[in-house]
Amino acid sequence: EQVPVLTIDGPGGAGKGTISSLIAERQGWHLLDSGALYRLTAQAAIKHEVALDDEAALAELAASLDVEFPVSDGVPQVLLEGQDVTRAIRTEAAGERASQVAALPSVRTALLQRQQGFQQPPGLVADGRDMGTVVFPQAPLKIFLTASASERARRRHLQLQEAGVDASLSSLLKEIQARDARDMQRSVAPLKPADDAITLDTTRLSIPEVVDRLTELLAQRG
Ligand code: C5P
Repeated sequence: EQVPVLTIDGPGGAGKGTISSLIAERQGWHLLDSGALYRLTAQAAIKHEVALDDEAALAELAASLDVEFPVSDGVPQVLLEGQDVTRAIRTEAAGERASQVAALPSVRTALLQRQQGFQQPPGLVADGRDMGTVVFPQAPLKIFLTASASERARRRHLQLQEAGVDASLSSLLKEIQARDARDMQRSVAPLKPADDAITLDTTRLSIPEVVDRLTELLAQRG
């Protein structure tokens, strides 16, 4: 009996994180935030003073990552070697470093089994760049979530403002475009829709509209 998996891939800022956790909650399924694993690998590299281009050492860090995802007062936390890095791994700089280590093939291989281990009953929502193409190629429902770069920058800007962080919209747009380019052009597991993925452009959709649409698709195909 295959445990069902819903894969949600797409560029940064398309709403994958929010949508994935809402769907997982609604279905009572597990959630894999694969980007967090790349962010954590980069964070561990800084902590252990490993250079971001030392592929062998980074792969070793990735393979032995000591992470926990506890929930405290209903708020999900991320612990690296017992230390709270929930906020530290969410900065733009951390995303940029994650995208650098994610371009290294041995790092991706080192994280593959850990990601596949999240496929546990009753089901899994897997959020990332290569969930449908590489990690869960058999998933019965694959979604590719996109939005225009300017809309994604606008959403990210709002999110940062709400968190009390100052950032300029134009520099956010530049960062988003640079990260998209690196994620799409890398040779291993580049960001692209799986052949059997359904692409959903969320530029003009609200969060509840996207959640409803995906719930409908799951009921039909999941
Ligand atoms: O989704 P998030 O912004 O947290 O991902 C951070 C970076 O990790 C991405 O820019 C991408 O380079 C990398 N990533 C990846 N494969 C995944 C998830 C994230 O390469 N499945």
